[in-house]
Amino acid sequence: MPASALEIIERHAAQAGGLLPALHELQETFGYLPAALVDSIAQAFNISRAEVHGVISFYPDFRTDPAGTHVLRICRAEACQSMGGEELASHAVRSLGCGFHSTTPDGRFTLEPVYCLGLCAQSPAVTLDDRPYARVTPQRLEQLLKSAASQHAGQLAETEGQS
Ligand code: FES
Repeated sequence: MPASALEIIERHAAQAGGLLPALHELQETFGYLPAALVDSIAQAFNISRAEVHGVISFYPDFRTDPAGTHVLRICRAEACQSMGGEELASHAVRSLGCGFHSTTPDGRFTLEPVYCLGLCAQSPAVTLDDRPYARVTPQRLEQLLKSAASQHAGQLAETEGQS
């Protein structure tokens, strides 16, 4: 385990209510919560591994695998659901060929749910790589995905050109 992971866990374990802040900082640092950390977290917080897994799986923000190059989050909360969010979600699943909490086989996109982005008046809303988009139709989503995929292809070509 990287030394910094242990430092993060121990620092938060010393504080009341430190579990969630620890998980957030670990995910910020490593991009996800590696399974290898669960034992250390459980020991440091004096809780069971099942409890750690329970907390991680309860909060949709936490991921247990590395994310793809682009992260698409679709709002699954009520206001967005009532304004076409379900259709948008179905479209994303079909278009990407992966479900929520999953990454496309080529590693380009990770699809995640989010529960309210504060854009309820302009629903349905999504974020792509943390940038918010409002009143997103399936067509607009397709454009966003294509644009992100072409950036990805451009970056790959640049990388290959340098090697
Ligand atoms: S419910 Fe989707 S942004 Fe608030």
